[in-house]
Amino acid sequence: SAPTGLNLNDIQGDILIGMRKPVELFFFFSIANATAFKKQLKANLPLITTTMQILSNTTASPSTLVNIAFSQTGLTALGLTGAANNLNDSAFAAGQVNDVKNLSDPGTVNWVPQFVGTKIHGVVLLGSDKQANIDNTLASLKTKFGNSVNELYSLKGAMRPAPNKGHEHFGFLDGISNPTITGFQDPKPGQAVVPAGEILVGLPGDNVTRPAWAKDGSFLVFRQLKQLVPEFNKFLADNPIVEPGLSKKQGSDLLGARMVGRWKSGAPIVLSPMFDDPRLGADENRNNNFTFAEPGQTQSNLTDQSKCPLSAHIRKTRPRADLGLPESASSFHHIVRAGIPYGPEVTAVETSSNKTTIERGLAFVAYQSNIANGFQFLQEFWANNQRFRQPGVGFDPIIGAAAGAARPVNGLDPTNPARSLTLTTGEHVFLICPTHSSNNLDADFVVSRGGEYFFAPSLSALAKTLTA
Ligand code: HEM
Repeated sequence: SAPTGLNLNDIQGDILIGMRKPVELFFFFSIANATAFKKQLKANLPLITTTMQILSNTTASPSTLVNIAFSQTGLTALGLTGAANNLNDSAFAAGQVNDVKNLSDPGTVNWVPQFVGTKIHGVVLLGSDKQANIDNTLASLKTKFGNSVNELYSLKGAMRPAPNKGHEHFGFLDGISNPTITGFQDPKPGQAVVPAGEILVGLPGDNVTRPAWAKDGSFLVFRQLKQLVPEFNKFLADNPIVEPGLSKKQGSDLLGARMVGRWKSGAPIVLSPMFDDPRLGADENRNNNFTFAEPGQTQSNLTDQSKCPLSAHIRKTRPRADLGLPESASSFHHIVRAGIPYGPEVTAVETSSNKTTIERGLAFVAYQSNIANGFQFLQEFWANNQRFRQPGVGFDPIIGAAAGAARPVNGLDPTNPARSLTLTTGEHVFLICPTHSSNNLDADFVVSRGGEYFFAPSLSALAKTLTA
C-alpha cells in the first residue's frame, strides 16, 4: 500500500531505504560550466531514481540507479545566492575538511587528496546488479555532460562475495539496524521509528529554517573509511578473551563481537553473549529486537556490561533504552546508513604478513536532516567521547577517533568489565592478555580517508530550483 504523506516520487531513492545493489560507484565532480551543466541535468532528470522506483522493484526499475547530491560549493557553483543558498547547516556550509578537529581525524594526512579543500561540487551515486551497467550509464553521462563537469575522484563500492554478502570487511553483517520514518514502512521488531524531519529536511521534526526548495532533501555524509583487516584479525587472534569453556578461537571471536556489539552473523551479543547464533543473526524479526537492559533493571542502572560493553559500536551509536527516552526523541541522533564496502578481499600475502597492502574499507554514507545532530554528533560526542554515559567508558573501539592519540576502551573483557584497555596507534597495543604486550600493532583499525558533506535534493528541487 502506498505510504501516506511522503512524496516518494520526489525523494531520491538512496535516502530512506538505500540502493542495496551489489555494485555502486561514487563519482565526485566539479562544475566547469554551470549553464551547460544545468541544461544537461534538466534533460537527464528522468534518470534520477526515486524512492518509489526502488520500492516498486519491478522489471520497470532502471538497471542502473542514479542519485545526485551537491556540496555547499556546488550549490554556489550552480548560482544559488542569499537565503536560497543557505541551508542553515554550518557543517555542510563549511565542508567536511573544516570538521577534521570535531571528528578527531589526525589532520588530513591520511585523506584522499581530492577531499582536502572544498573543490568537490557534487557526487553522482550509481548502483546496479552489474558493473557493466554502471560503466555504460557513466560513459553515456560523461558524453552528455562533456566539458561542463570535471571528474575529480571516484570510488567503486561492491558487496563482498559469498559467503560474506552484506558483511563489511571485518566480517560483520551490516545494514541490519536503520531507523524508519513515521508513515513510511511498517517497522520491523526493534526498529526505531523517527519523525520524518529527522532524516528529511522541511518535514515535521526538522525545526530549522530552510529555503523552501530544500524540502524532501537530506544531507548526505560521505566518508571513505579504510579498514585494516589483517591487522584487526591479528589483534583478535592475539587477544582472545580467556574464559572457561572457550577455545582460543572462540575467545578471539568474542572479543570482536564485544567491540561491535554483534557477532559476525549479525546476532546481537545481548541476546547471545558467549557464542555466535547464526540463525538469530539471519532472522530479521529477532536480530534487532532487543535493548541493553537486563531483566529487572531500572533506568538508573542500565550500565551492566557483562553481556555488552558500554563502548561497543552499536551501543555507542544507538544506546536504545539506555537513554530512558522514547526513540522518537531527537536526542537519539538517528541517521540512515547506506554505505557499501570498497576494495578487494584480503589476499593470502596480506593474511600471512598480517599487514594491509591493498586499500579496502567502507564507503560510508549517512542521511540526516541535520549534520550536527546526526553523523557529527555520533562521531564526536558518542563514539569519541570516553565519558559517554559514565566516566571511563572509553572510545568506540571500531570508529572512535582520538586525533591519532591512544584510545582507552573499557568493558571489552567480560571477566572484568572495569578493566581499561588502551588501543594505541602505531606502536604497542594494550592487550587483554598481558603476555602478548610486545606485539607491534596499529590499533586504529579504521582510518579516515576523509570525505565531504552533501545535500541530496528532491526531484522537484532539481527541476525547478537547481537547474533554473
Ligand atoms: C551499526 C560496522 C562506521 C554508525 C554497525 C554494525 C556494524 C558496523 C557491523 C552492525 C550492523 C547494523 O546494525 O547494521 C561499521 C564499520 C565502520 C562503521 C566497520 C567503519 C569502517 C560507522 C560510522 C558511524 C556508524 C562512522 C557514525 C558515526 C552506526 C550506527 C549503527 C551501526 C548508527 C546502527 C546501530 C543500531 O541501530 O543498533 N556498524 N560501522 N558506523 N553503525 Fe557502524
